[in-house]
Amino acid sequence: MRGDLIQRGVWFRSGEQAPPAFRLVLLNAQAGVDGREVGDALGAVLDMLAGLPEGVLPDLPGMRGREAQRSRRQFAKLTTLLGLGARAFDASAHYPPLVAAERPDHLVPLRGFPALPWEAMTSNLAEADVALQLTAERAAAVDIAAAEVAQLLAERGLPLRVVATFGGFGRVDRRGWLGFHDGVSNMQAADRLAALAAPADPPWMAGGTYMAFLRLRVDLAAWRSLPRGEQELLVGREKLSGSALTAVDRSGGVPRPVAGGDFVDPPQSTDPLVEASHVHRANQSRASPHAPGALRIFRQGYEFLEDIGPNGPRLGLNFVSFQRDLGTLQHLLHLPGWLGDANFGGDPGPSFITLLAGGLYAVPPRAEPFAGASLLGSP
Ligand code: HEM
Repeated sequence: MRGDLIQRGVWFRSGEQAPPAFRLVLLNAQAGVDGREVGDALGAVLDMLAGLPEGVLPDLPGMRGREAQRSRRQFAKLTTLLGLGARAFDASAHYPPLVAAERPDHLVPLRGFPALPWEAMTSNLAEADVALQLTAERAAAVDIAAAEVAQLLAERGLPLRVVATFGGFGRVDRRGWLGFHDGVSNMQAADRLAALAAPADPPWMAGGTYMAFLRLRVDLAAWRSLPRGEQELLVGREKLSGSALTAVDRSGGVPRPVAGGDFVDPPQSTDPLVEASHVHRANQSRASPHAPGALRIFRQGYEFLEDIGPNGPRLGLNFVSFQRDLGTLQHLLHLPGWLGDANFGGDPGPSFITLLAGGLYAVPPRAEPFAGASLLGSP
């Protein structure tokens, strides 16, 4: 933990692994309140959340011994990360704005991306003043914690309200809905801080990071209709092992992917089909995150199942990434050759992902009493 100022909840440090339960809670301040009141309200919310894994539950004061121990287990690893959205800096949403400090350049309302169509652009619920990312060992922990946040705000008459919440899960087998391993190539632990830590521009962000949240629908039926070889060419990896593709065998008419042993980082390839795959589009240079233009991001996504309707399951990925600069993510999703001209992979490849909601957040560096507190004028 020492040596960096990234908030807990970005599980990037050597030996860390993101716990499997996720819930994003989005909060807006009520009209007419100032940053200081919001800071105080957030302080109360964060204190309550910090109490849960200590066995201190709002409705059960004085719990001790075995009972407290059980609650500590229930809320094991519950961790809250706080982000500030563009809205908090926006004088047309709040006058004066909740945060008077300079807004980072790329912290703007999310418009969308050329190759990721909105499912319904009018209903983006993922933009808010404040985002709380809750992660924990157990789904019930993040769900109860989110409900306790809403309850605390109401019971104490605090000037924030929950405007949306999105839940998700990680799998023990580390696979996603596509059936492939996800998060295989997420940089060596030693390289991650360079991809994550924000520069001092604006000065208050020095050593913090930025979060992108994209709630992406995956059309599983469309994906499953593709033969396995085609799926592997679109992802750029072998389906069972996760090993990177190195070439394409065209001898039999239908292009067949060739995997190259146990490569995690795909080697450079001259084959246009391999080059058009998702992993190559999403990481072109394989360069260290220090290199200009490397556009490296740290991914920490969580799958979701919304419901099962007459047309089958409605599901997808809560794409969560952390990066030193939101321009990195914008480039990755706008540049042709990267993900600007393909919905996922291929040239241009099939379209089976749509954007349900999304938001960009500044994740200020760790501080006391909480990250970002001084910006909100909390004591
Ligand atoms: C529903 C949407 C998506 C799915 C199902 C998905 C799935 C995957 C899979 C299976 C891999 C290969 C395993 C791995 O290397 O971790 C991967 C890699 C990657 N994806 Fe995605 N992805 C999605 C959207 C995105 C988006 C929107 C971005 C960028 C903004 C992105 C960026 C990356 C990156 C950077 C890699 C690692 C490439 C590498 O370094 O080898 N993905 N993704």
